[in-house]
Amino acid sequence: MLVQFGTCRLELVQGDITRQEVDAIVNAANSRLAGGGGVDGAIHRAAGPTLMAETRTQHPDGCPTGSAVAASGGLLRAKFVFHAVGPIWRGGVSGEVELLKSAYRRCLELAVEHSCHSIAFPAISTGVYGYPIDLAAESSLSVAREFLLTKKQPNLVRFVLFDGGAFGAYARVLEAMAD
Ligand code: APR
Repeated sequence: MLVQFGTCRLELVQGDITRQEVDAIVNAANSRLAGGGGVDGAIHRAAGPTLMAETRTQHPDGCPTGSAVAASGGLLRAKFVFHAVGPIWRGGVSGEVELLKSAYRRCLELAVEHSCHSIAFPAISTGVYGYPIDLAAESSLSVAREFLLTKKQPNLVRFVLFDGGAFGAYARVLEAMAD
């Protein structure tokens, strides 16, 4: 599914983020940037050991929740990996919505700072961190839409949803947004 916002494209696909041919892919990391399972494990496996080595050297203190830091893509097709730290879902009363939005916003800023024309996101926080997929879709798509309409870059923002349920949730929100 593809929607145009001004001169920029916002795209939804179902698949594996490690295989995307884009300038930057986003990792759903933890605040220690210590690696883990889910999309984090898949990205580190596909990028090779240089990703962890560079991450440890450049960001020894990790990254606060709601923010993101950049590293190089190693063996990936993407030039960069942006480690984004989403919130753990605690019922929605601990600032989770703003923290998730700011993690997405920071990645889009990093894309501009690193001259990336294209960026791919997973559904941050919706796996082991337990964030409800419908709410995550609303927050992440509204941040992307607003950023593209105001900053007019990057040219392509792609959300890569791992399963059909997540894709359906994102598609419903994006359809309503494009009306
Ligand atoms: N490509 C795209 N999406 C994927 C992939 C993949 N290869 N693998 C998993 N996903 C999806 C999951 O289905 C989920 O919707 O990524 C989303 C985020 O899930 P998690 O990877 O569990 O991330 P998150 O909920 O943000 O939890 C982060 O998990 O692995 C640890 O180190 C990580 O501690 C951190 C925590």
